[in-house]
Amino acid sequence: MGKTIIIGAGGQIGTELTLALRNQYTKDQIIAADIKDNAPELIQDGPYIQLDILNREAVRSYIIDNQIETVYLLAALLSATAEKNPDFAWKLNMEGLFTILDLAKEGHVKKIFWPSSIAVFGPTTPADNTPQHTVMEPSTVYGISKQAGERWCEYYYNKFGVDVRSIRYPGLISYKSPPGGGTTDYAVDIFYKAKATGKFTCFLSKDTALPMMFMDDAIRATIQLMDAPADRLRIRSAYNLGGISFTPEEIASSIKKHLPAFEITYEPDFRQAIADSWPNSIDDSYAQQDWDWKLGFDMERMTREMLENIH
Ligand code: NAD
Ligand code: SER
Repeated sequence: MGKTIIIGAGGQIGTELTLALRNQYTKDQIIAADIKDNAPELIQDGPYIQLDILNREAVRSYIIDNQIETVYLLAALLSATAEKNPDFAWKLNMEGLFTILDLAKEGHVKKIFWPSSIAVFGPTTPADNTPQHTVMEPSTVYGISKQAGERWCEYYYNKFGVDVRSIRYPGLISYKSPPGGGTTDYAVDIFYKAKATGKFTCFLSKDTALPMMFMDDAIRATIQLMDAPADRLRIRSAYNLGGISFTPEEIASSIKKHLPAFEITYEPDFRQAIADSWPNSIDDSYAQQDWDWKLGFDMERMTREMLENIH
């Protein structure tokens, strides 16, 4: 593998993706980049550059001068934060993508990973076992930006042969790096509060089912998709990825098996409407068929892993 850059490496996914890629490939070849002044501690063992994805010329120069072959573009505003600042969310989530797609179109970059989300679906989408191809009328600025991004990825692949790959991640659950402003963040916070105070107030109602996934599975899926032979990939918008579907009440019950005194209360806020517009569960049979995807962590295994590793 040639030189790789992860833009947005300081975030929830980027930190763990950088760690995983550095374990798998030559450490010096995996460059972490973020708008933050410094890399998170966990990834200070390899190259880091401060880079603003919105500075198109700086990004172009760095990638061309350093002969970067693969780009993971993770910098974005997530669903809840994006609703508070829709203009900037649209700018950040779209402009960076064009900068990287254009570099690939011009032949400077060979391969791109750009994540999509379950947010591309909307209230008119079938909510259970949502298929790969279905009605998609997202009602959030985040979902609209992800859906537009998917369309552009497929367009650049069809028109210019750009090798861009994507996954519609479910909500991701991790303990190494905190989540960055999404509607699914409660499913991380619940573990920290369960360990710290034994109590948690959830911003979603108890019966709000959403697709979720433990971070190790998401990272494995990402690397597996990027390593898959191009001729096996039928989807150049973004692959559905199912994960585990659960409600706040169900994850609380799973935690209670380990911490019987744990208590949860519910105070839904503006994020309830976002969650209500997203699927309950996802059909990922295309990922299973095209790049042999198989889920590793069920709810019990994920709960155990989270509770054992949060201190
Ligand atoms: P995050 O908010 O934790 O991390 C994003 C990172 O991007 C941050 O470190 C931030 O500093 C950086 N960043 C912001 N603006 C930047 C800029 N102008 N230039 C360079 N870096 C900048 O987000 P995440 O959860 O790691 O998500 C990464 C990607 O995956 C996003 O595109 C997100 O939409 C997508 N995704 C995440 C989830 C999830 O549950 N975490 C689910 C679906 C999709
Ligand atoms: N976890 C993300 C969010 O809630 C979904 O893309 O915004």
